[in-house]
Parts: sequence; C-alpha cells; structure tokens
Amino acid sequence: MKIIHIVGARPNFIKLEPVYSSLSENSHLSQKIVHTGQHYDPKMSSVFFEELSIPKPDINLEIGSGSHAIQTAAMMEKMDTLFDKENPNLIVVYGDVNSTVAAALTASKKGLKICHVESGLRSRDRSMPEEINRIITDHLSDYCLTPSSDADENLIREGIDKSKIVLTGNVMIDTLVRLKPKATKPDVFCDLTQPFSLVTLHRPSNVDDASSFKILLLYLGELSKKIQIIFPIHPRTKKHIDSHFPSFSTIYKNIALLPPLSYLNFLWLQAHALFVLTDSGGIQEETTFLNTPCFTLRENTERPITCTHGTNKIIGSNFGLLNQEIEEILEGKKLHTTQIPLWDGQAGVRIAKFISQL
Ligand code: UD1
Repeated sequence: MKIIHIVGARPNFIKLEPVYSSLSENSHLSQKIVHTGQHYDPKMSSVFFEELSIPKPDINLEIGSGSHAIQTAAMMEKMDTLFDKENPNLIVVYGDVNSTVAAALTASKKGLKICHVESGLRSRDRSMPEEINRIITDHLSDYCLTPSSDADENLIREGIDKSKIVLTGNVMIDTLVRLKPKATKPDVFCDLTQPFSLVTLHRPSNVDDASSFKILLLYLGELSKKIQIIFPIHPRTKKHIDSHFPSFSTIYKNIALLPPLSYLNFLWLQAHALFVLTDSGGIQEETTFLNTPCFTLRENTERPITCTHGTNKIIGSNFGLLNQEIEEILEGKKLHTTQIPLWDGQAGVRIAKFISQL
C-alpha cells in the first residue's frame, strides 16, 4: 500500500510524526510526506521537522501565503498532478488547516481513499475558517479517526456512517509525551526564576481587526504590571502589531515579544507557566495534559473536553472574568485535569494498526 501524508502548517507536523513513525514499522507499506508550503518560515516549519525527527518532506509544493481561496486552489492544482503521478492508495490528512481541506477535495474527486486524523471536532462557529475545513474534510473522508468520544458524537449527529468512525485518541499528546523529557528552557530566559504567563494569539477574530486587537494588547499591557508575560509572536500577529501598535514592546517592558519558538522551547514554557492565554486549539489540549491553567480568548472551542476534563476556560473577550480567574491563580488556586481516555501517547500506534489492516 502506498500512502501520502499531506501536511502544511505548524500543528500538522506535530500530529504527523506519531503516525508516520508507527507506520514505518510495517514493511508492506510505503509512505511519502508532501508539504504544501502553507507555512514556509524555518521557525514555523523546518525546526519542527528537525526537533521531532521527521524525515524531510519528499515533495514540497511551495504554495506560500494568499487568500484562503487562492491558497486552497493553488494547492489543489498541484496535488491534482501529483496524485496522478504517484497513484497512492491512501491520502492521510491532519487537523483543520487549508492544506487539509485542499487535499481532501482533490483526493475525493479522484476517488482516492482519505483518512482524516483528528476528525470530528466542532466549534459550531462557521465564521472560523477551520470549522468549514473540518466539516468538509470529515464528510469527504472514508476513515474518520477521532481524538475523543465527543468527536464521534458530532460525526454521528451529522449523519456520517458509524462504520467510518474510529476512536484512536490524541496524536498531539503522543508527541508531547515523547518529547516532554527533552523540553528546554529558551536560552533568552536562562536567568528566569520568577513566575510568568505565556501568551499566543493568531486567530483572525483576535488579531485582524485593528481596534479590538489594540484593546487586547492594552489589556496585556495592564496584566504585565502584575506578572511577566512571554509572548512568542505568530507572523500574522507580528504584522498587525508592527502596523497598528509599533511602540508596544518599548512601552511594556515586562512583555517579552519573541519570534515563533521551537517545539521544545515552547513545551518548556507551557509546562512552567503559571497560566497560559491563547486562541490556539492545540495549546488548549497541551495545557490540559500538562495541568497548566489555560484561558482561551475565543467565544467557543472545538475541544470542549479540555473544559470538562481539563484546565481550560473559555473567556472570549470578557476581561472582567479573566481578571477574576487570574487573581485566583495568583493567589495560589490550582486546576487539575482528570484522565482523558486515549490521551496516552499511543494514538499513533493505534492509527498505524488501523491503517495497516486496510
Ligand atoms: C494556520 C491555520 C490555523 C492554525 C495555524 C497555526 C488555516 C485556515 N489556518 O493559520 O488553523 O492554527 O496555521 O499556526 O489553515 N506567514 C508567514 N510565514 C509562514 C506562515 C505564515 O509569514 O511561515 C504569514 C503570512 O503572511 C500569512 C499569515 O502568516 O498570510 C497567515 O498564515 P496562514 O498559513 O494563512 O494561516 P495561519 O494564521 O498561520
């Protein structure tokens, strides 16, 4: 069997490794990694391949940035030719990024079998591009591999046949379990001893609108008077800070604005932060596993299990609530995760077992 894995953006790489390495143990399978080039900065891409020990992509489509339609269409055009040439038996796609849906659309029109890893998550918010990507990808997939039972329920509710759904667990946690012992404090913080908070922001809903983004930055400025903030900036966010609030880092000295960090450095910060403020999906899961309090600056989540079983709280833009929650953490309140089934470091093994018997 010939398998093509399609990846393109930072969170995809973290999910690919456990599946790829477990499948490598099957001699009757051949695998190729195709990188769409959606993320192209070395700090968003190649550093992850190196730290996670993923082989270099066999093919890079070098798509780069663009509007969603332009980016998705460009990927589809190149995959169309690629799939004809390679003639794979299975396309494996990950998560909810534009590269995922582009591959699913191209493969389905060619009658190729599609396996979706991290299937079934739903925020029920169609203003998020990722929600559209999730729905389309799931409905085009032949095999929907889910991280948790709420995802199975979502798929069944949407009429997806039960025979397509397999609960395999959370692959992002596989990588975390494997690499946690190697997590390293970033060199720039070698002298850091006091408590700190960690911030990440990149969702269009938070950073693309100048006035609401500025309110958020001013909030962080006030918060930095109480606790040091470490803020690795996504390229999208950097562009907006540079154009709307160029003096931000000179005004607020207790906010460390950093370029995107490597996996091992970021993992260390997540594990040691007093709390995390984020709009990322994956970070909600990682903080839950690490028992680090997480406040999500979004109105909803496609990962509700991190709230019911973990350390995640949905804040939206309710800064009053956020202040209250942070105050409690500063006073010593602890949050605890209850064990989530199949978030155990073995999801990749289960996925490989499933794929190898197809
Ligand atoms: C994408 C995913 C999002 C995921 C995130 C992780 C979609 C719809 N969104 O969002 O779900 O959480 O990746 O980071 O696929 N840029 C660079 N260098 C890069 C990559 C991007 O400068 O290596 C800039 C480009 O100017 C681009 C902007 O960042 O326009 C946004 O990049 P894009 O890949 O479109 O989406 P993300 O915001 O990264």
